[in-house]
Amino acid sequence: MIIAANLKTNLTRKQTSEYVDELEDFLNKNKISQEILVFPAPSSLNTHSGKVTIGTQNAYAAANGAFTGEIGQDHLDEFCVKTILIGHSERRHVLGETQEELVKKFNYYKEQGFKIVYCIGEPLEVREAGNETMMKYISAQYEGIDTDYKNLIIAYEPVWAIGTGLTPTLQEIETIHKELKKKSSAPLLYGGSVKITNANDVLALKSVDGILVGSAALNVKNFCSMCEYAQNIENKKIKENI
Ligand code: 13P
Repeated sequence: MIIAANLKTNLTRKQTSEYVDELEDFLNKNKISQEILVFPAPSSLNTHSGKVTIGTQNAYAAANGAFTGEIGQDHLDEFCVKTILIGHSERRHVLGETQEELVKKFNYYKEQGFKIVYCIGEPLEVREAGNETMMKYISAQYEGIDTDYKNLIIAYEPVWAIGTGLTPTLQEIETIHKELKKKSSAPLLYGGSVKITNANDVLALKSVDGILVGSAALNVKNFCSMCEYAQNIENKKIKENI
């Protein structure tokens, strides 16, 4: 399974380094073999080798150039970062990134062989407009995206569930993930108010390949526990198949 922490605009470089060290230590001590991704703020990126993969929350679709305020591929290469989050709802809705811009970014980092965690998800008014409208909205977020890209991970994050404490029911997550699995065979993560109290149940769903966690992941001990839940679920599956 894939357990990912999006640290957003939190934790300085020093705090991030302490966070990653504690996480790495936990993963080693507890023999956790799941795929663990951490997305620090751009100024907290650093080289890291170990079980944790460091990814960037954003980067411009260029190696360098005149793009004030952005970082480019050169800044990622400096720290051997080869994983990027694209299409997060905060970039779509707060920073106004369009599907066209996201596709440009996707294609650029795909060309460079990056692992891409591509986020999709609907706002509340779209969900309330019914299933057909919701699927149409989500389908538009796949436009221009190579869903067969071998280093692709998709994260379904309903906008209304992000940072609100609200989540779809487990049944609703299962239903929509089953629909989304028809669009791409890439691993599919769920994100949006995943907490220590619901992570185990979400991870246990058949159509969920992992989780993308925001605020609850800021507490490294909580995030470690979530990694452990995923490991226990995988261990159980292996035992049952023997
Ligand atoms: P929260 O876990 O804080 O709802 O954020 C989810 C998210 O945006 C992860 O990318």
